[in-house]
Amino acid sequence: MPVTFTRSALMLSLLLGFGQTQAGEAAPPKSLAALQGIPHPAVIAHRGASFDAPETTAAAYKLARDLGADYLELDLQRSKDGVLFVLHDDSLLRTTDVATKFPERKDSTANEFTMAELKTLDAGSWFNTAYPDRARPSFVGLKILTLDEVINIAEGNPLHKPGLYIETKEPKLFPGIERDLKDKLHDRGWLSPSGSKLAKRATGVGQGKGKVVLQTFEKSSLELLQKEMPNVPKVLLLWVGDGYIEAKSKVTFAESGETDKAAYYAKQQPKDNAEFEQWVQFAKAQGAIGTGPSAALTQGGSQSYSDLVQPWMNQYTHDQGLLVHVYTVDEAVDFRKVLEAGVDGIFTNRASELLKYLKRPETGSVAQVLENNGY
Ligand code: G3P
Ligand code: CA
Repeated sequence: MPVTFTRSALMLSLLLGFGQTQAGEAAPPKSLAALQGIPHPAVIAHRGASFDAPETTAAAYKLARDLGADYLELDLQRSKDGVLFVLHDDSLLRTTDVATKFPERKDSTANEFTMAELKTLDAGSWFNTAYPDRARPSFVGLKILTLDEVINIAEGNPLHKPGLYIETKEPKLFPGIERDLKDKLHDRGWLSPSGSKLAKRATGVGQGKGKVVLQTFEKSSLELLQKEMPNVPKVLLLWVGDGYIEAKSKVTFAESGETDKAAYYAKQQPKDNAEFEQWVQFAKAQGAIGTGPSAALTQGGSQSYSDLVQPWMNQYTHDQGLLVHVYTVDEAVDFRKVLEAGVDGIFTNRASELLKYLKRPETGSVAQVLENNGY
């Protein structure tokens, strides 16, 4: 039965705890998001505006910020000498020239390099080779960024301040990274809403309660994040696979006879409804405010996975008082599909397209914003 959500109900739900009305029913998702200071629907720039510029570089993050994305998404790692930095893969091979600069160590993981060594790598040229139609000479030589540098970028536009949506990537490789992250966010003043005059003049989620969202695929990391930062919104990422949501079929990609990984993943489903529900319940029990499920994309591709945003799944999650932020969706046909299915936010490589789809105010074209930032 739909719940009429009045201002007084909102206040009451604050008193009773996140997501629950007086009658114990879940509040509407938009109100759940408002309670956390999270825009609805949220535009989460996945590795920055990474369709249009090399992922997790200054070009991609400044572009996402200045286009007006709500959040800059990042995967957190820690260098050999203890510096928090931002990179998706644990290997450096795909997105840097490590094979040229450190041929003997090219197969080492990124965390086996000091920050000074990581800073010698070119993290932009691979993009020009992979996507010649989007290539720019100014992308050559872009650097891997520290977390501090991404925070500087998030704070750097006086008129629009995005939040940070931070994933503890492979946290078992980085014991204590949840504590390190807390210390860094605390030192940078990101664990409390900003009160500066500059921030008050600006717009954007980066000055309010929802300025940081923490995300992880790992149950153990969610528990540690909750212990370290109980008041910061957290999201448990959902995935069908070994060690995560148990699949209905035990047939591996190699055994499946599929030639296309996206087609294989699209067929992967949780073992049963209860298996999906258990993961949502775990997220809730650990204090998460939402889940981050995968999506099967219309065009397939390397970021198309199991469809975990079926309407019943979103409804179940909402009934638990949790939000749904789906990864990673880039096309209008899929924006429509997942929003109609009930999601509350979207991780996208194409922040420009999602902002346009949602009819959010335009700040300039991708080319203009890149050029304004010197790219
Ligand atoms: O963090 C959400 C989404 O980014 C998860 O996938 O592999 O791109 O980190 P991945
Ligand atoms: Ca991520």
